[in-house]
Amino acid sequence: MNSYKQIFENNKRWVAEKKASDAEFFERLAEGQNPDFLYIGCSDSRVDSGELMGVEAGEVFVHRNIGNIVSNLDLNVMSVINYAVDHLHVKHIVVCGHYFCGGVKAAMQAKDMGILNPWLRNIRDVYRLHKTELNAISDRDEKYNRLVELNVVEQCLNVIKTAVVQKTYLTKGFPLVHGWIFNVKTGELVDLNINFQEQLKDIQEIYNLDAG
Ligand code: CO
Repeated sequence: MNSYKQIFENNKRWVAEKKASDAEFFERLAEGQNPDFLYIGCSDSRVDSGELMGVEAGEVFVHRNIGNIVSNLDLNVMSVINYAVDHLHVKHIVVCGHYFCGGVKAAMQAKDMGILNPWLRNIRDVYRLHKTELNAISDRDEKYNRLVELNVVEQCLNVIKTAVVQKTYLTKGFPLVHGWIFNVKTGELVDLNINFQEQLKDIQEIYNLDAG
C-alpha cells in the first residue's frame, strides 16, 4: 500500500507520463466527455473498471455501490442512469458484479447487519425470487457464485424498468443493457449474454413506462 504522500508523487509521475506520450491528453479531457458506456459496479477495491475493461479516462461513465445494486428508491443511481442516457447518450449500460462479493456474502448470512439491512435486502430479495434454483445447489461456493450472477441479472432488469431506458431505446435503438461478471480469482470478464430485447418485452408487460 502506498503511503498518503506517495499518492501525490504517483500523480506527478502519471501526469508526466501521460503528457510524454500524448501532449494534448489533459486539454482534450477538459473539453468534455463523450463516453459510450455507463458502468454500474461494486465498490470493492479489487474491481477496477478502467483496468478490467482496458479503457482510458473519458471512455466510461461510472457508478459504484455495495453489491452493484440498482434500486428504484436510490436517487443516486437513478440520477446517474438518467444523466448517462439523456445527456451523455451512452450506447451501452453495463451492470458488472464480481465473484467473492462481500455484499452478496453478507446478504447470504442470517444476521442483523444494522444500517446495512435495507441495502442488503435488495440482494436478499434476489435470493427469494430465485429460491428454488439456489436452494437446489448444495455446494456453498457454487450457490454464492450463482447468487452473484442472479443479482446482476435482476439489477439489469431494474435498469430496464426505468422510463428513460425504455423510451430512449424504443425511439433511438440504444442503450443496450448488459450483465457482466468479473472473476476476481482469474481476472476474466464474463458476459452473461442477457437477451435485452426479450427482457425489455417481458418487462413492459408490467412496467411499461413508454407511453405518454
Ligand atoms: Co462486491
